[in-house]
Amino acid sequence: MQPNRSIIMKKAFVYGMSVEGENFTDRVKETKRLKLDFENGINVILVSPRRMGKSSIVKKVKSEINNPLIKVVYMDIYDCRSEYDFYNRFASALMKETVSKAELVVENIKRFLTRLTPKISFSSEPMSEISFSLGITPRNYQPEEILQLPEQIAKEQNVHIIVCIDEFQQIGEFTDSITIQKKLRSIWQHQRNVSYCLFGSKKHLMTNLFQNRKMPFYQFGEMMFLDKIATEDWVPFIQSRFASQGKEISEPLAKRICETVENNSSYVQQLAWNVLAETEHEVTEKDFTNGFEALLAQNSGLFEEQLQGLTTYQLNFIRAICNGIHSNFGSKAVLEEFNLGGKSNITRIKNTLRNREIIEIDKNKVFIEDPLFRIWFKRQYNNL
Ligand SMILES: Nc1ncnc2c1ncn2[C@@H]1O[C@H](COP(=O)(O)OP(=O)(O)OP(=O)(O)O)[C@@H](O)[C@H]1O
Ligand SMILES: [Mg+2]
Repeated sequence: MQPNRSIIMKKAFVYGMSVEGENFTDRVKETKRLKLDFENGINVILVSPRRMGKSSIVKKVKSEINNPLIKVVYMDIYDCRSEYDFYNRFASALMKETVSKAELVVENIKRFLTRLTPKISFSSEPMSEISFSLGITPRNYQPEEILQLPEQIAKEQNVHIIVCIDEFQQIGEFTDSITIQKKLRSIWQHQRNVSYCLFGSKKHLMTNLFQNRKMPFYQFGEMMFLDKIATEDWVPFIQSRFASQGKEISEPLAKRICETVENNSSYVQQLAWNVLAETEHEVTEKDFTNGFEALLAQNSGLFEEQLQGLTTYQLNFIRAICNGIHSNFGSKAVLEEFNLGGKSNITRIKNTLRNREIIEIDKNKVFIEDPLFRIWFKRQYNNL
């Protein structure tokens, strides 16, 4: 049964998924730039810390392009574990998104992937999507043939195709990843009617793929770092979303929502939602505090999970960062003050914490990017 949309209250704030329409704020400059790149066939690499809004902005630009000669194909490869997982996702997305109606997908497959007999099912619900599995394997298709598909389709349909690949850093995890990356790059860079927008969250993996001279994707496209949404853009958004629910929030408190979580897009929306839920008419200090405590409680399970199994030295290293230390961990003073063990430990600790995505290293300085994690950690562990 389709839920009756009219009786579901519209949520004032949305988090945990990509946002669109009235839940999407600002990003005017970045949207314009990304759109321009798309329209001019420029390859873009989009990077930002987690939950800043990459998926949302790409989907927004996709929805704003109404030139019939440009087709934007979006795919997410977060769950692809191998080279052929990726080719199946790549081809499926192309088959689905280069036709105007779901019914034409089958024709598309017959036209471009003649050697396959895919399993296709249409769901009975009118709005739901077609689902299919193509069954591409090394026995029926060579990697090159699949990687050429967008160019082939673009030429036949006389359009330009932009292929957007979300969580692209996943490619780096495949067995024999460098060889695969070489294949991708060598084919994609010669395509005249296709451009790529590659984006992902794990910043150190993404920068390694694209900014390391030794890597195949070095200088493949324009690097775009998605910044935080500024407080002055958030405040009117927050205030108007409160107003849409018949409630009110003062400018200083709306500002405080942003500042408390250092403008992390997802946390701003989550905190605003918590505060709204506490508020009767106009937001009070108490409502804000309750909302914030709820935010910590909602996230503490995840944070605890991230710390599971860490050694005391590793926890102490995090504590040092939370106390404002970002470099010189090997110095005698820091080693002693925070009890980090020997100097020789430091590199190993850094690597472990970076692999767990707890810390980021930028120009030899170490940071914890998640502002809420920092606050939570200080409360839990500062007395180690
Ligand atoms: N332009 C925006 N306006 C308002 N809120 C936004 C915007 N962009 C992102 N958000 C908030 O941030 C959340 C995460 O957005 P999104 O999933 O697009 O980020 P992401 O960078 O792709 O995240 P991930 O690192 O998990 O892939 C959204 O659910 C929403 O709460
Ligand atoms: Mg995303």
